[in-house]
Amino acid sequence: MANRRYVSYPRVEGSASRQAHADFPPGTYERELGKEGFFGPATHMYHRHPPTGWTDWSGPLRPRCFDLNRIEGVRPSPWDAPLCLHNAQVRLAFWRAPTRMDHLARNADGDQLIFVHEGAGDLFCDYGHLEFRAGDYIVVPRSTMWRLECAAPVSALLIEATGGSLMLPDKGIVGQHAIFDPAMLDMPRLDDAFRAQQGEVETKVEIKRRGAISTVTYPFNPLDAVGWSGDLSVCRINVRDIRPLMSHRYHLPPSAHTTFVGPGFVVCTFCPRPLETDPGALKLPFFHNNDDFDEVLFYHSGDFSSRDNIEAGMVTFHPCGFTHGPHPKALRGMFEAKREATDEYALMLDTREALEIAEAAGAVENEAYVHSWRAHAGAAPIAKVAAGD
Ligand SMILES: [Fe+2]
Repeated sequence: MANRRYVSYPRVEGSASRQAHADFPPGTYERELGKEGFFGPATHMYHRHPPTGWTDWSGPLRPRCFDLNRIEGVRPSPWDAPLCLHNAQVRLAFWRAPTRMDHLARNADGDQLIFVHEGAGDLFCDYGHLEFRAGDYIVVPRSTMWRLECAAPVSALLIEATGGSLMLPDKGIVGQHAIFDPAMLDMPRLDDAFRAQQGEVETKVEIKRRGAISTVTYPFNPLDAVGWSGDLSVCRINVRDIRPLMSHRYHLPPSAHTTFVGPGFVVCTFCPRPLETDPGALKLPFFHNNDDFDEVLFYHSGDFSSRDNIEAGMVTFHPCGFTHGPHPKALRGMFEAKREATDEYALMLDTREALEIAEAAGAVENEAYVHSWRAHAGAAPIAKVAAGD
């Protein structure tokens, strides 16, 4: 079979910047039109108006915002956690965990990523005991048995890599120790706390396979390992241990912040970072249509003052098919040059296949979100600041 290449070759038409995200033509707004999630062919277009300057919207495709804080109720089992967004390759649920799980959970449908939004506690699993706290990503390999004991009320995002594995991204020319060193991944230990929970006590294991739950009962606690050897385990990294890539002269695309890769999706982490200092460099997320991916952003903690009406615990969902970009308040902040750094933690889930909105998310939607860019109608061109003039 012959080698393939994109139907693509670089051309310049009209007035355009030679360097993406910097030194725009005066009075213009830059929009990136890109394939393959910021890796593929892309064009940067320079517009007279903000691409988010719509005045009305009809039909099912629109930017969405869901306030997960309004999803109430502790669910004893993670398999009962309200499903929010899903497709055939990934499922995102929001779980308020019980103080102490009375059974073991086992997901036979795929690797499980637990992102601890609030709370702290102890995880017990096949591989041992692992403490956790807010901001932790916990990677649970498919079919691992586990349960939580919570020292403070826990809410968590549950992201299932349906039918596949969670992997680390290729870090390319920055090398394996950048962003976070693999040595920062913490593993469970067969410690005193693990041994203390063992015993001849009846234990149920709730196994999820093809979405259905089967329950296996043991007359003992099956988390009874005395040792193990291998390279498969639960592991943990906290968002505060992630050291984001940045450039003082170039606004890096979201893909620079990729933390995990699953089948048909990526998970990225946005951490506090200094803003670009080069006078010609863009200092905000650029307007873009990420033409092959749906984009989900979960706001974990920090100061979201650059985003209008967004608080911790909220999710924005920008399906593939339209252009999105900074809110008017962010643009005003740029003009006033008040900010030197971002101070927020957010998790992004980008999916190759279209996501469905589940009932739990639909019930907590802020339907006015689509209109939150309205002030753009009278906004001054971003290039006035981005070009430093
Ligand atoms: Fe985006």
